[in-house]
Amino acid sequence: MMRLFGLALAACLFAVACTEPRATDPIERGTQVYRQKNCASCHQVGSEGGTVGPPLTHIGTVAGPRKPGMSAEEYIRESILDPGAYIVPSYPDTMPRGLARGLSQEDFDDLVRYLLTLK
Ligand code: HEC
Repeated sequence: MMRLFGLALAACLFAVACTEPRATDPIERGTQVYRQKNCASCHQVGSEGGTVGPPLTHIGTVAGPRKPGMSAEEYIRESILDPGAYIVPSYPDTMPRGLARGLSQEDFDDLVRYLLTLK
């Protein structure tokens, strides 16, 4: 009985990992990358996600004025590639380093594109 359950669970996990088709739309692909990288474990979008990091619900708007002379897109890229370059006030400098490691340039770009839509 337990054994069957274990098998079913394994098959199910396998299916989830392997059957989510790679989205062709860049923004949809960005949401997949966001999920795969577990950004939501620390960040909220809307009412979903953790509160260790600042909410990203409006990051497309918030990002622009963060650093003078840096566009929203540049700021978001830097936030992921080099989290310590700017620390959001009243948050700890605990965003993991190396989150972009293993991502293709395209997947990274799509992740940034998705975040920019969160106005
Ligand atoms: C272990 C928790 C954790 C994870 C996982 C995490 N972050 Fe963060 N993140 C933080 C914290 C804490 C901050 C605030 C400190 C700082 O500015 O570095 C932050 C800051 C940010 C900011 C700047 C927000 C602002 O308002 O200026 C962005 C953008 C961001 N994270 C994106 C991401 C993305 C995208 C992922 C997934 C690839 C991710 N984070 C994964 C903890 C996390």
